[in-house]
Amino acid sequence: MTEDKIQKHFMEEFPTEPPVSEPERQYYFIQRAREDLKKMSEAAGRPLTFCVTTFGCQMNARDSEKLVGILEEIGYIEEPDEEKADFVIYNTCTVRENANQRVYGRLGQLGRIKKKNPHMMIALCGCMMQEPEVVEKLKKSYRFVDLIFGTHNIFKFAELLATRMESGDMVIDIWKDTDKIVEDLPSERKYSFKSGVNIMFGCNNFCSYCIVPYVRGRERSRNPRAIIREIERLVADGVVEVMLLGQNVNSYGKTLEEPITFARLLKEIEKIEGLERIRFMTSHPKDLSDELIQVMAESKKICTHLHLPVQSGSTRILEKMNRRYTKEGYLELVRKIRAAVPDISLTTDIIVGFPGETEEDFQETLDVVRQVRYDSAFTFIYSRRTGTPAAVMKDQVPEDVVKDRFNRLLEEVQRISAEMCARYEGTVQRVLVESVNEHDESLMTGRMSGNLLVHFPGDASLIGKFVDVSLDECRGFYYLGKMTEGKTE
Ligand code: 5AD
Ligand code: SF4
Repeated sequence: MTEDKIQKHFMEEFPTEPPVSEPERQYYFIQRAREDLKKMSEAAGRPLTFCVTTFGCQMNARDSEKLVGILEEIGYIEEPDEEKADFVIYNTCTVRENANQRVYGRLGQLGRIKKKNPHMMIALCGCMMQEPEVVEKLKKSYRFVDLIFGTHNIFKFAELLATRMESGDMVIDIWKDTDKIVEDLPSERKYSFKSGVNIMFGCNNFCSYCIVPYVRGRERSRNPRAIIREIERLVADGVVEVMLLGQNVNSYGKTLEEPITFARLLKEIEKIEGLERIRFMTSHPKDLSDELIQVMAESKKICTHLHLPVQSGSTRILEKMNRRYTKEGYLELVRKIRAAVPDISLTTDIIVGFPGETEEDFQETLDVVRQVRYDSAFTFIYSRRTGTPAAVMKDQVPEDVVKDRFNRLLEEVQRISAEMCARYEGTVQRVLVESVNEHDESLMTGRMSGNLLVHFPGDASLIGKFVDVSLDECRGFYYLGKMTEGKTE
């Protein structure tokens, strides 16, 4: 259909103009997509289903909950098996190159399935779509994709979907950046008792290896009142634990008209009655303030877990990474945090093989790992991302050298994290029961404040409740245990 025809069609079906303001405009398009879907379901002779597949980080997981909320509002039914769904959405990640390769591989497979299902649609969104080369490649070689949008206009999903349903053409809408934050759209939580809450979007740090600032745009903080209101609503709906999400939560609030610190925001959230646990990620070491450490030490609700990416232990490499702290500065920060919150669990991200990394630099990283003794660490092989300053740096490290360092690092990280995990053996811990164990239905899985998991006999009625569990046997990075009494609430 041409633009004119679409417009005419819209006007006949929906005599009123779409509202200009958000989120009203999206609610209007949800209604319209609902009508469109009804017709499509009638043609298919059955209800139509969807499957959202998420790649990457917690921010993406939260975005996917928003997509699911909108799809359910439109009337789609969830189908966990991607190969059976009528509408498949990939919410993509591009932080490392292999994430992109995985998407192309799976997309090829989806294309073959689509040939057999005339009702099938495919949408792609998320960070990978913000890369112009990716969209070019999709336009050229993956013509069967129906809808492509990016990270800045995810709130427009209903509008884009209605446009696709009514025009029948491939719809592509990518924004370069935005200063817009649209509140109060539908969202469907994966867990009834816990939820992620975005407090900010984007990143201004430009670590030299990282593509995130280019695909997620400039840092924007949500208004504290909107955050509090969202959490209050979640709590009224049964949520007891929130995870505050941002690329760099420690710089929350700096760009607001009325600036507020992350520590102050936490103090306000702490006051919300009925909320039991507060988590947050990710913290950048350069912005972690004494005020925050104090708030963590005094809080009854903030969990005893801090994810503090170090990336490298070498001050020389940290400078090339544009991290803006030194090895000594990082270690001093860890000392201060441990002094204030002695039982804190520390986790981190580490990159090996950054351009120019020597064996001596790598030894500095091992030294930090040994000194800090992380509860767990995500270790990554450096991935060259086009457009980032590091991609054009000289002295890219040969693959076999990187692999060897990576294996040595992993061994050290795992040895220490098993020792750290074991330090709780024989104690009783309060856990939030999250799920039935995947491998053994007689066991439940609970999460401790420090983020460790314990599996113990119980039944599904415990999900979402806090219970006390004795940690009988450490199995490397999790525990087997048993409940010491009934539900604590
Ligand atoms: N190569 C490897 N790891 C990366 N990360 C970010 N960019 C890259 C890259 N180009 C890692 C960092 C970050 C985590 C989310 O991903 O460790 O903290
Ligand atoms: Fe990437 Fe650095 Fe921003 Fe984290 S802080 S998202 S590593 S640029």
